[in-house]
Amino acid sequence: MMLTDKNLAVLSKLEWRYATQKFDTNKKIDSATWDTVEKALILTPSSWGLQTWKFVVVTDAKIKEELVAASYGQKQVKDCSHVVVICRPDKLTAEYINEFVDFTASVHGLSAKEFAREHEMMLRMQKGMNEAQTAEWMSMQCYIALGNLMTAASMLDIDTCPMEGFSKKDYDRILGLDKSGCHSVVVCAMGYRSAEDQKANLPKVRFPKEKVIVRI
Ligand SMILES: Cc1cc2nc3c(=O)[nH]c(=O)nc-3n(C[C@H](O)[C@H](O)[C@H](O)COP(=O)(O)O)c2cc1C
Repeated sequence: MMLTDKNLAVLSKLEWRYATQKFDTNKKIDSATWDTVEKALILTPSSWGLQTWKFVVVTDAKIKEELVAASYGQKQVKDCSHVVVICRPDKLTAEYINEFVDFTASVHGLSAKEFAREHEMMLRMQKGMNEAQTAEWMSMQCYIALGNLMTAASMLDIDTCPMEGFSKKDYDRILGLDKSGCHSVVVCAMGYRSAEDQKANLPKVRFPKEKVIVRI
């Protein structure tokens, strides 16, 4: 099959990215590039567009050092340029949904009444989930942000390491999240790979498409 330049460009970026184990401590993401990363994060789609997340960006060297122990010794969080801790709120309230509907209406220059049907459905969904289900649903939204973040970063030649290997309890305490009604869900260390990172040269471990893609 003939691949166009666009096809090849997408594949080469996705082949290039890998879960970076060793970051170059001397290379930092410049502020214009970081601004683009933040905009990409904000552009992440979410269920109903509700955006039930907070992105905590850590660059403080002392805090990053503290995060190593909370990440079971993984040094990526110290050596990288920026750590993004993707968090979910404690709970999803009817007030939050009402506010979101008002905001949507104002962005579209419409009355909130135009969204009455969706508004009603969102409130029904919110009432229908218990605390654990709500937490799980909001955590799933956070993983969409993680995927979007890693792909956008690869387009900007930024390396990433997605991380679930950390203590949520310790992160919440170190970052003061427990006081702000937030919980850490998943982490992304971001920066530039060290020339010494052997993992960069390993071939990708991916099942062949016959095993994972079903055509109907
Ligand atoms: C949600 C998630 C959590 C992960 N947690 C860690 C982690 O804590 N530490 C780590 O070094 N890699 C972690 N990884 C990286 C995976 O092991 C890696 O993405 C996978 O083996 C595929 O390799 P590749 O990303 O290099 O292509 C995680 C990946 C994802 C998507």
